[in-house]
Amino acid sequence: MAETKILLSENEIPTHWYNVVADMPNPPAPPLGPDGKPVNPEALMAIFPMALIEQEVPAERWIKIPDEVREIFRLWRPSPLFRAHRLEQALGTPCKIYYKYEGVSPAGSHKVNTSVPQAWYNKQAGIKRLTTETGAGQWGSSIALAGQMFGLEVRVYMVKVSYDQKPFRRSMMQTWGAEVLASPTHLTNAGRTILAQDPNSPGSLGIAISEAVEEAASRPDTNYALGSVLNHVLLHQTIIGQEAKKQFEKAGDYPDMIFAPCGGGSNFGGIAFPFFADKAAGKSVRLVAVEPTSCPTLTRGHYAYDFGDSSGYTPLMKMYTLGHDFVPPGIHAGGLRYHGDSALVSQLYHEKLIEAVAVPQLATFRAGVQFARAEGIIPAPESNHAIAACIDEAMRCKQTGEKKTLFFNLSGHGHFDMAAYDRFFAGQLEDYEYPAAAIDAALHRLPKVG
Ligand SMILES: Cc1ncc(COP(=O)(O)O)c(C=O)c1O
Repeated sequence: MAETKILLSENEIPTHWYNVVADMPNPPAPPLGPDGKPVNPEALMAIFPMALIEQEVPAERWIKIPDEVREIFRLWRPSPLFRAHRLEQALGTPCKIYYKYEGVSPAGSHKVNTSVPQAWYNKQAGIKRLTTETGAGQWGSSIALAGQMFGLEVRVYMVKVSYDQKPFRRSMMQTWGAEVLASPTHLTNAGRTILAQDPNSPGSLGIAISEAVEEAASRPDTNYALGSVLNHVLLHQTIIGQEAKKQFEKAGDYPDMIFAPCGGGSNFGGIAFPFFADKAAGKSVRLVAVEPTSCPTLTRGHYAYDFGDSSGYTPLMKMYTLGHDFVPPGIHAGGLRYHGDSALVSQLYHEKLIEAVAVPQLATFRAGVQFARAEGIIPAPESNHAIAACIDEAMRCKQTGEKKTLFFNLSGHGHFDMAAYDRFFAGQLEDYEYPAAAIDAALHRLPKVG
């Protein structure tokens, strides 16, 4: 029988990050400032260290990973690639199914792959404090851990609905020394404005980003760290796909289709971009981003310049968006409740080089439970989106008899999401289609450019 776990040794941890721009047919659309002109990189220095700003627009295909960062990666990398023999049997599919498990990291997801280098570059630049936002708590935990490793103070603005839903994510961040606040807060102009309009605001990633950016911009000792969306974050995550390619080589196989949950696009970019290099060189592989029907950014959003946060503090990025003032329904995949998407992922989708599907919440939990009962691991609700899309394809192939090799990113475990599973078992979760009227209305509120 073929191996179940395909493992690499620590000296096979990638030495470089892969820059997908080198293989994109068209240059990325530049971020724009308030005057509608491309942003001057210096303008970002109030909140980011220069090394990360440079990684927003790298010219080289490969960028060296600092040795200190690779040393820390040894704690959990390389992550295992699994062949899902038991899921294949349970489904009775002729397909082979593989998954890469990022839940082996201390914080439980892929997010630590970028929090560690981000904290390291900030430390090198003499920064003492980091602010950030978190939705599901996965990113907040990851930056709390990375801050602790390099002696940086961390303040996390946690979207209020998640703060209430996930008390143990909060404890985890506090264990690693971070301060956690329920956003919106009264500490920032952005938070106070929202609370004046709606004192019971559940918060959103867009609002929490505004709060964290505002604080970082107002203090010279403090920078801001973002867990997804930006080019440097996707760049850092490309170690996932690079490892996977080596593991597929070891297994003597290659995927026909790759699925990843897509919030801001970082785990999707991380797993898909290194395979995109093969696709650009003529190899056939389909790359599928999976999102919730309640936050259908790629599948139903507008491709336009928009802000990354709700108050309009960030540069304008050309991306698929539901509108920067989008306040999403309280679905349990908190990490997928973002109004926008990575500019790189958006452009590749717009140019039809990658694909996207949206899946309703109940189907994702059904898939996650089916996966857990076959393979053992309890997935994060975000990861369940990729599992659902992969199982759908495996079942379609059962009808047609196609023998595809399917591969998904199991971006995190769900050990802190059991309240969501409880609600699923109690029949309290609902499907939600984001209304077409709200998507149309957002179009009129998009910033005017040019
Ligand atoms: C486990 C997990 N998967 C996926 C995501 C989605 O984010 P991204 O699209 O940046 O990978 C998140 C975000 O918090 C997450 O925690």
